[in-house]
Amino acid sequence: METSILKISELYRDKGDLHYDGEGVSQLAHAWQCGQLSKKEGASSKLQLASWLHDIGHLLSKKEGTPTTYGYDDRHELMGGNYLTQIFSGEVAQPVLMHVLAKRYLVTTDPEYRQSLSPDAIRSLALQGGDMSKEECELFISHSFAVDAIALRRWDDLGKNPQWNMPSKDEVINELTHLAEECL
Ligand SMILES: [Fe+2]
Ligand SMILES: [Fe+2]
Repeated sequence: METSILKISELYRDKGDLHYDGEGVSQLAHAWQCGQLSKKEGASSKLQLASWLHDIGHLLSKKEGTPTTYGYDDRHELMGGNYLTQIFSGEVAQPVLMHVLAKRYLVTTDPEYRQSLSPDAIRSLALQGGDMSKEECELFISHSFAVDAIALRRWDDLGKNPQWNMPSKDEVINELTHLAEECL
């Protein structure tokens, strides 16, 4: 499992500088900001790690940049969540698997939420299935990790601030590595 954490930190070291098209931050900055937001709100270590790693699927994907800009949904939540399932418990992997569903749930149930979405989040929404039906909403919210997925989603939407500078890449990767080790 230590090797898996090494692989994750190397992935962010190598590909974390990739820019998130449509957003003003890199993948690593987005991960770090989401991690900080979750920590500030007193999330458990595992939910903090899920917040850091929720978009790891984008880094695992062979596609460059942000796929939604050319009309393609890479299903990054499944790629990332399934990857994390092999290493960590459901408390880490499930909110990651569910963070796109959480967006669809919030868009459907919270009128103010849609207004607050970033250009990329709006562009990807239709590709990801758009609004949920009443049945889909009920099914989603009955899941034991729905509350965590919604919390993660709200940090996800806030963690795209180009004015919020992170410490050095080494410090950020170290913080991520220590947190991941704590969550094994
Ligand atoms: Fe995502
Ligand atoms: Fe994200």
